[in-house]
Amino acid sequence: MVQYRKIILGDPLETEAVVEQPEAEQWEEAGGLPGFLLGREKKILRYKMRDSQLVYGLGETVRGINKRGWKYVSDCSDETNHTEDRNSLYAAQNFLLIFDEQGAQALFVDTPGRVIFDIGFTHAASLEITLDDLDAAFYYAEGSDPLELIREFRRIIGPSYLPPKWAFGYGQSRWGYKNEQDIRRVVEGYEKAGIPLDMVYLDIDYMDHFKDFTVDSEAFPDLPGLVREMKEKGIHLIPIIDAGVKIEDGYPVYEEGVKEGYFCKKEDGEDFRAAVWPGLVHFPDVLNDKAREWFGDQYRTLLDMGIDGFWNDMNEPTLFYTEEHLEEVFRRLEELRGQEMDIWKFFEFGDLTGSISSRAEDYQTFYHDFRGRKVRHDKVHNLYGYYMTRAAAEAFRRLAPDREILLFSRSSYVGMHRYGGVWTGDNKSWWSHLLLNLQQLPALNMCGFLYSGADTGGFGSDCTEDLMMRWVELSMFTPLFRNHAALGTRVQELYRFEELAPDFANLIRLRHALIPYLYEQFVRAREENDLLFTPLALAYPSDRRVRTVEDQLLLGDALMIAPVYIQNAVGRYVYLPEPMTLCRFRSVTDYDRLELSAGDHYIDLALNEVAIFVRPGHTLEVTGDTISIR
Ligand code: GLC
Repeated sequence: MVQYRKIILGDPLETEAVVEQPEAEQWEEAGGLPGFLLGREKKILRYKMRDSQLVYGLGETVRGINKRGWKYVSDCSDETNHTEDRNSLYAAQNFLLIFDEQGAQALFVDTPGRVIFDIGFTHAASLEITLDDLDAAFYYAEGSDPLELIREFRRIIGPSYLPPKWAFGYGQSRWGYKNEQDIRRVVEGYEKAGIPLDMVYLDIDYMDHFKDFTVDSEAFPDLPGLVREMKEKGIHLIPIIDAGVKIEDGYPVYEEGVKEGYFCKKEDGEDFRAAVWPGLVHFPDVLNDKAREWFGDQYRTLLDMGIDGFWNDMNEPTLFYTEEHLEEVFRRLEELRGQEMDIWKFFEFGDLTGSISSRAEDYQTFYHDFRGRKVRHDKVHNLYGYYMTRAAAEAFRRLAPDREILLFSRSSYVGMHRYGGVWTGDNKSWWSHLLLNLQQLPALNMCGFLYSGADTGGFGSDCTEDLMMRWVELSMFTPLFRNHAALGTRVQELYRFEELAPDFANLIRLRHALIPYLYEQFVRAREENDLLFTPLALAYPSDRRVRTVEDQLLLGDALMIAPVYIQNAVGRYVYLPEPMTLCRFRSVTDYDRLELSAGDHYIDLALNEVAIFVRPGHTLEVTGDTISIR
């Protein structure tokens, strides 16, 4: 049995990431962290990596499953470019697994401020962890089996969120569905095309001027009626909730929050203000128990309308700008005006206007009342999305204990996995993001996030029909399966790709037929603290070839998946560490089987074909329109 030790530097804040606490040892008494040197600057931990070691973990980050060769910064950010040159995305999931044939080590760095993981970026063989703050708790374990280290980590951070079973269906979303007619049109489009639909998401457009917990009564004159009408068709409506509360007289959430002192405050005690979608907002201090309870209670308005699912957004939290900084920008621009615009001034001009959002300096200007201490936001920045989602989940237990409610968030920290799932934010309609989607899944699982998925088809930029098809062929295996797109991009509801609509219908039915297996494996992974998606290197430790396989995953006990992620490809290479049965599905009833030996294979996969590989000792049987996998 492996065991985590808890080794403490300084006086860390309790984040409640870990629920089964090992006894804490002070850094000095413990003799530090095995294998890690504390740098002279005292904020850097150094670990020398062997060439043979792989480094996995860090949840939702850019690049591959093996994190070696880049610098990742845990600093929850509204980053709309998920390109490989970025360092931070929306989450902070500070769990690392370092392993090779000689053994494995796992480390969770529990500190809610910024942490830099330089994994062979500055020095190829050196893993360097830099802390913004010296106060941190390290959970450390070693052993021979990396999977056992993951399972034990998952045990101490507590069970993953279990969504309602219907949340394994297929959902359609788009920023820009303006009114109930738009929603009905989408549903009708799916009905006419014969493509099953289980959820429709309501983006910010449903609200009255983007005010949380309000409904635009002109666009949605009878939301409870619409909820009922949709439920009769088996469709759940899932509204978005944003972190910021609009500053507007007469808006009860704002007025009550101000009166009770529930918003984050500046140094001088004034409520902190910044702009997001609604214009100027205050941020509920979800780190404060009372304010969190109050904010959670607000979800009641929508629960009472029959709503049974939510997505929490902009909870890094995103700041479009603060008035103070905007003033400063205008002042500097005024100074520049009329001067000769040489290249340096031109750059300055660009910098001034291009970087006004979510500035580190702005995060240093407001405070939380956290466990009785006044804590500056930047010190606990990475907890905001976690605690906002926790506010909702705790409220659901109080307000609707008998109802099963879907909940997922954009920003997260380890610990939030007990309260909700995550989607991976504003990706793009790029083939590379299809692969990124696959590579993020096991890393999210390691950190407890089982209910997760990406915006299928891509959020930003224009989706092509073949990208959508190939992406559906991956998302049909992810617990959260949602097609979502940004305002202004090409429409990408599945029925819009008319010629392929029958194929899409077949694939969504195939997804439905796979739900019994997916759900059973999800529940098992949750109960046994296992991965739902396992990288091959963890499953076949003695096979050196699989160490670099980054585009195939095991799904549960019985299956392997290997989606096509290259445009115009009509197949792909796969590597099989053991003999497997390839089931190539065009629909639940139209498929062929091929027995494959261990080794390399090129598999033909037409655009409408999905490959499911069945591992030895397991079976996949199709009876009528059900699929049973054992
Ligand atoms: C954010 C979300 C995105 C949503 C948009 C408008 O960018 O990540 O999913 O559509 O805000 O609410």
